[in-house]
Amino acid sequence: MNEIANQRFQKISEFIQEKIAKNSLPLAKSSNSLLYRWQHTLRVAQYGKQLAEAEGGNPELCVTACLLHDLAKFETRDYGVEHGRIGARMARPLLSQLGYSYTEIENICFSIAVHVDDKADFEHPITIESQIVNDADNIDRFSNYRIVLNLAENSSTYENLIRNAEGRILRFKNYRGQNIMSTASGTLLFNKQIDLQIVLLERLIAEAKITFLPEI
Ligand SMILES: [Fe+2]
Ligand SMILES: [Fe+2]
Repeated sequence: MNEIANQRFQKISEFIQEKIAKNSLPLAKSSNSLLYRWQHTLRVAQYGKQLAEAEGGNPELCVTACLLHDLAKFETRDYGVEHGRIGARMARPLLSQLGYSYTEIENICFSIAVHVDDKADFEHPITIESQIVNDADNIDRFSNYRIVLNLAENSSTYENLIRNAEGRILRFKNYRGQNIMSTASGTLLFNKQIDLQIVLLERLIAEAKITFLPEI
């Protein structure tokens, strides 16, 4: 057990919980909600830990960067593609308060800054930690929970649900072929996630095809 690291994670969690409590955005059951964002953050941190162990990254730096990667989104949804770079700026004072060294802070902030579009607003080489944060985030972008929420949100009728599922299968197959991940372990987890969802969506569509009165 790394007590110091775990205490830091706890403090980061409290820091984000305070932001959630202050924010007037609803904690509704939606993939746009802060509740969903926090749950996503926790899973990204778990994947970050797992990938750091498998790929030889620094587990503490990966978990910390994962916990903070969407920090800006806990303030407002309006930052769009800037939320990585803005989040990195927001994280700096907290990271020095937590006692991280200059090089650790640079690495964590770079990982946060580039997770959206691979661009930081300061000079830093790509690190295994930044690649892991990126991969961990991508894995959870296709979480089972997210697909259930998205399907529910965009499916006012059964026909819409099926149309939505058909569109998603095409997009998922496209992502699957693009090789967007940076690490080997991340690619494995990502492909597993996508493949399971393609199976589920195909089953959903297959069910729709037999949803009519049989004739014998
Ligand atoms: Fe993000
Ligand atoms: Fe994210």
